[in-house]
Amino acid sequence: MTGGPNPLLSPIRLGDIDCQNRVVMAPMTRSRAGDGDCPTELHVEYYSQRASAGLIVTEGVQPSIDGKGYARTPGLHEPAQVRAWSRVTDAVHARGGRIVAQLMHAGRVGSHYNKRPGARTVAPSAVRADVSLWTDAAGMQPCDEPEALSLANIAAVIEDYAQAARLAREAGFDGVELHCTSGYLPMQFLASNTNRRSDGYGGSAQGRARFVVEVLEALVAAIGAGRVGFRICPGNPFNGVVDENPLETYQTLLGATRPLGCAYLHVIASPVADLDAFALARAHHPGRLIVNDGFDPQSAAAAVQAGRGDAVSFGRHYIANPDLVERIASGAPLASFNRKTLYTPGAAGYTDYPAWVPA
Ligand SMILES: Cc1cc2nc3c(=O)[nH]c(=O)nc-3n(C[C@H](O)[C@H](O)[C@H](O)COP(=O)(O)O)c2cc1C
Repeated sequence: MTGGPNPLLSPIRLGDIDCQNRVVMAPMTRSRAGDGDCPTELHVEYYSQRASAGLIVTEGVQPSIDGKGYARTPGLHEPAQVRAWSRVTDAVHARGGRIVAQLMHAGRVGSHYNKRPGARTVAPSAVRADVSLWTDAAGMQPCDEPEALSLANIAAVIEDYAQAARLAREAGFDGVELHCTSGYLPMQFLASNTNRRSDGYGGSAQGRARFVVEVLEALVAAIGAGRVGFRICPGNPFNGVVDENPLETYQTLLGATRPLGCAYLHVIASPVADLDAFALARAHHPGRLIVNDGFDPQSAAAAVQAGRGDAVSFGRHYIANPDLVERIASGAPLASFNRKTLYTPGAAGYTDYPAWVPA
């Protein structure tokens, strides 16, 4: 980019959410939740350090005890969690930032070692994920064999999401983002190898999209379309999902979500060689688009300039650059992060990355 103001730094309205710029902090699981799956004072510090982002999307937050997949992830289904999150949202708002909670139900990607007693591991069909995950109690463990959701269970899960959205608003969040990728529950419904249902929630692309559409409808009914976004990555194979025809699946999904008028669609570049996920999203989603994956400040500014996206989210750059917006504005160099402390408890590698100090 040469000359003219940086398009990343101009304000934008995403549904009902006024953002001071187009730099979005991408959702990142960091496994630092405390007792009762509550965020802690470290979360307050971590997110407020990054409050100059136009919008923060939190780490994945489980809407129910069944939705928890990984160790030390926070929840949004109990009063103590609401109180703890409100300290985070207050701190971000005090610095002029905006923050939405990413609702993440991990579905079959779960181990009972990471869950509370009585919690279940559920999925569209009883197809086990052939992946292992870290548990504090027993080290690396294979995923549980999931239970196939009954129709009554599906309705209950949708209500869990809606209740989490209401609690998010009670906790002061500006909205919620539905996590529909990375092989978690919504994507398990969308993808053909994990959804073997023969009822109205499986089979055709329309059937496989139905769960996501109904969750979004419930979120919109709970808190209003202007405060609901959703995140997709067509063809993402993470956690063992295989979609035989991602183009058809996501065209169908976006056709069905279009009338909802959600605040934004957050789209990650597709790993499928001939599938341009940003172009697909632009063609089938008339609202705001946040684009993601592998951007640096220059390529992000160029993407907004070219209209590929309305805003750009940064994940990894936000780990070690709490003042990413200020660095973009001043052209300061970006720091790199330590992989070893991505998911370890405590402040190291979480809140101890400094802001840039000019020499
Ligand atoms: C440590 C880490 C944790 C992540 N956790 C989540 C998550 O909870 N939800 C999600 O949608 N994406 C998650 N992601 C993916 C990021 O949001 C983002 O899509 C990815 O890092 C690519 O963007 P980048 O190139 O700007 O880093 C995670 C990524 C990283 C590095």
